[in-house]
Amino acid sequence: MRYSLFGESHGPAIGIVLQGVPSGLILDMDFIQNELTRRSPGRTLMSTSRKEKDEVEIVSGAFEGRATGTPLCGLIRNTDQRSRDYAATRWLARPGHADFTSNLHYKGFEDYRGGGHFSGRLTAPLVFAGAVAKLALRERGIEVLARIRTLEHLEDTPLDPVAPDIEALRAAGRKLLPVLDDEKAEAMRDAIIKARSEGDSVGGIVECFIFGMPAGVGSPDFDENIESHIARHIFAVPAVKGLEFGMGFGFASMRGSAANDVFVPAGQGVLRTRTNHNGGINGGIANGMPVVFRVVIKPTSSIAQEQDTVDMRTGEAAKLVITGRHDPCILSRAVPVVEAAAALAMCSVPGVLA
Ligand SMILES: Cc1cc2nc3c(=O)[nH]c(=O)nc-3n(C[C@H](O)[C@H](O)[C@H](O)COP(=O)(O)O)c2cc1C
Repeated sequence: MRYSLFGESHGPAIGIVLQGVPSGLILDMDFIQNELTRRSPGRTLMSTSRKEKDEVEIVSGAFEGRATGTPLCGLIRNTDQRSRDYAATRWLARPGHADFTSNLHYKGFEDYRGGGHFSGRLTAPLVFAGAVAKLALRERGIEVLARIRTLEHLEDTPLDPVAPDIEALRAAGRKLLPVLDDEKAEAMRDAIIKARSEGDSVGGIVECFIFGMPAGVGSPDFDENIESHIARHIFAVPAVKGLEFGMGFGFASMRGSAANDVFVPAGQGVLRTRTNHNGGINGGIANGMPVVFRVVIKPTSSIAQEQDTVDMRTGEAAKLVITGRHDPCILSRAVPVVEAAAALAMCSVPGVLA
């Protein structure tokens, strides 16, 4: 599947054109809308007060409830813009955001309001496309589930990467703060509210699991291997600044004898591994164990505290106070986005859809 995102945060609409959707795929709109709701803003005190229902309208590529196989276009109208929040700071580059780079790249013609095309809002159509990808994967017995693994220094219950508790992950995905341990969720909520009261923001790590990837699919090729596909899609998610597979950076302090995933017979000629340090991938190809990766989401760059910056028009030093509506923590909303990116990545891996 290939996609192209369009729209700006304060324009009339945002959307996506998705190509390569299998003909005849049933487009379960309840499922799709539920995925969008998991990402939508304004559901809790912890998130931005911008209220968007994120209702998707399919304007191409569907007929009688099924995908035709022609380009599938999902459109989401923007309904709660407050563009005046941004006029006063038009030329003041927000530290950590894409105002400066997009101003250079688009030669000053960018729609700057609310981050324009770089707004986290553009992840809504990505979630729509991811939901379609999940429906295609479901028919092949593949499921993508993620949760918040850490928020600042707070960590949710670790899962066994050999056999992660799939039901617990499904249940976490239905929560406003998608973690397994409700007490930890409470502490995370307090940490978000504290950061917000201090005009600050927090980040953390999203952990994602892909179940049911058939052993042998993938490729060693440079841009066709499973890790490449995941990396490419995951780094299209704004605010992602790190990615590790399996033990990831933990390998750096291990010895081979501890790091190796020892093979064990699982009957009928099937091989399993006793550990899953490699996160279900060897040589860019699925080995049949759950695919496991973790994604670092940085603290939201738009914070309420006064910050030093530069006026991009004059080149003079300036002070910036951001008045728009922003999430003090985007982790919970990033969980369905990471799942969507992973589902789209899996649909691009050779041998999964075709
Ligand atoms: C679901 C989601 C919501 C986001 N909301 C905000 C926000 O309210 N304020 C903000 O400054 N950044 C937000 N971001 C992150 C910015 O879009 C991102 O930092 C920016 O585009 C620069 O990209 P980079 O951080 O990948 O370099 C959000 C990201 C996601 C995934």
